[in-house]
Amino acid sequence: MRDRLDKIRAQVLEAIDSTSDEKALEDIRVRVLGRKGELTLILKTIGRLPLEERPEIGRLANRLKEEIEESIRARKEVLRRLYRRSQIEGLDLTLPGRCRPLGSLHPITQVMDEVCYIFERMGFTVVHGPEIELDFYNFEALNIPPDHPARDMQDTFYIDDKVLLRTHTSPIQARVMETQRPPLRIIAPGKVYRCDSSDTSHTPMFHQLEGLMVDRDVSFAGLKGVLTSFVQQVFDPDTHVRFRPSFFPFTEPSAEVDIQCVMCKGKGCRICSHTGWLEVLGAGMVHPEVFRHVGYDTERFTGFAFGLGIERIAMLKFGIDDIRLFYDNDLRFLQQF
Ligand code: DAH
Repeated sequence: MRDRLDKIRAQVLEAIDSTSDEKALEDIRVRVLGRKGELTLILKTIGRLPLEERPEIGRLANRLKEEIEESIRARKEVLRRLYRRSQIEGLDLTLPGRCRPLGSLHPITQVMDEVCYIFERMGFTVVHGPEIELDFYNFEALNIPPDHPARDMQDTFYIDDKVLLRTHTSPIQARVMETQRPPLRIIAPGKVYRCDSSDTSHTPMFHQLEGLMVDRDVSFAGLKGVLTSFVQQVFDPDTHVRFRPSFFPFTEPSAEVDIQCVMCKGKGCRICSHTGWLEVLGAGMVHPEVFRHVGYDTERFTGFAFGLGIERIAMLKFGIDDIRLFYDNDLRFLQQF
């Protein structure tokens, strides 16, 4: 009997709460508390229960009756208030609700988070550096001499002789090594600036992620392992990777890392200029001259470094052929992510 009362309670209270007019409320009242109502009948038969159960069940049933009556009264009040408002304010309760527009993370933020997470799982720690940087960290400490073409006014936003907007995230390498001793395993994500005019593959601001690992016995083989694993996590697990000899002033030897074209799977298409390969990373073994600038013992320590462009990864992942789309703030574009 107690179970039956509980069941009635759950069903009836829920039904009352979802009524939308007083007629429905009255129907419920008659069905439960009317002359032949479900609860009325139970109350009438209590006298036939075994003597020892009567007081308890009687109390429960009467309490439930009061609870239901109170609930009906309260709901009636709510319905009347809503009705009055609808009369005064012209509120139409049958209209669908107004949803708040839901925001989402920018696609570049999403890819940056994913890339950081992949390296964090490999033991790299995220560090940050300033976007307004000294010429010293952006160039000199990285073995880029004063007459190097990268220092050209046309590529770099200078603030004055010694201060500029960083053109890459590599200066964070020098900043970290200046204050910390090896072993070191860091990644540095952030915005970088170049005085380029915009086109399908250039914007004056974009994002890079820098990586640096320094310890005893850090090898080029280790670099290949880390970057191959990264590429296969961020793209398909069976993506082919190739390391092509290259030059950067702050690494020796240096390499550019290509992945098999994600569009044509290496067959050759417009995206990969029919080579089957796409360049995605710069990397190499840290140049002894960079270590000398921060006072590291080049006999004891070796290191590797790498840098990658986040927009490039995002364009390949999402199949986007114009980098400017990320910064036009067109909601029709952004809402797809
Ligand atoms: N800083 C380079 C650029 O902006 C990218 C880069 C290349 C970073 C090689 C590195 C590296 O750490 O080893 O093009």
